[in-house]
Amino acid sequence: MATSLANHVIAERSSRSRIGLVITGALGGSLVALYAVAAPFVAPALRKVCLPFVPATTTQVQNVLQVLRRRSGTLVDIGSGDGRIVIAAAKQGFQASGLELNPWLVWYSRYKAWREGVHYSTSFQICDLWKVSFAQYSNVVIFGVPQMMDQLELKLAHELPSTAKVVACRFPFPTWVPECTAGEGIDTVWVYDAKTFKTKHFNELTEQMSSKQQDYHDSQT
Ligand SMILES: C[S@@+](CC[C@H](N)C(=O)[O-])C[C@H]1O[C@@H](n2cnc3c(N)ncnc32)[C@H](O)[C@@H]1O
Repeated sequence: MATSLANHVIAERSSRSRIGLVITGALGGSLVALYAVAAPFVAPALRKVCLPFVPATTTQVQNVLQVLRRRSGTLVDIGSGDGRIVIAAAKQGFQASGLELNPWLVWYSRYKAWREGVHYSTSFQICDLWKVSFAQYSNVVIFGVPQMMDQLELKLAHELPSTAKVVACRFPFPTWVPECTAGEGIDTVWVYDAKTFKTKHFNELTEQMSSKQQDYHDSQT
């Protein structure tokens, strides 16, 4: 009788410890899964320039397409989010690419492009916008934040061909002069011509160099 009771108690304890293990495992697994999904969305906020995922509004996308209606060729959306601008541009005839840091958004964009029948004219790459060159693109779209625009001005002026156009959504570039704008409020987009901003940067560089040469000349006399 005593042995049977002891066996019963041991069996119950072992069953409880198995349930505990299953619950701990499930909880741990869920936390790891939650972290894996959430981390890529939080990561941009922890970088030097915080550029979070905020999707363009429908009007914003329409404004981008409207200012680019007479253009063709390659297009890139820098920080492409869920791919809405890239997919809309591909439907308008562009060979459109998205560059995005968050792998979940890239996988989702690829799926959405396939579902909407534009997977042949779109591509999505998981990458850091500061580590790639934009030299191959003739149309560039950026929905950035004000803190990054001065740095991006220099990068684009250096890399883009002079035939390119750049469209900034919601926040304009700080020193470039736009050739036109479309929309209003948060849906405003600004259009910049590469010939104009490349000439501006070239002139500034030339000015800086001649001023340095002058300083050097003055220090030698
Ligand atoms: C404001 S959202 C714009 C999304 C999309 N272009 C749109 O208009 O709907 C900015 C996107 O840039 C991505 N991002 C942030 N830092 C990045 C980086 N260093 N390189 C590439 N993408 C980045 C974010 O994950 C986010 O999806």
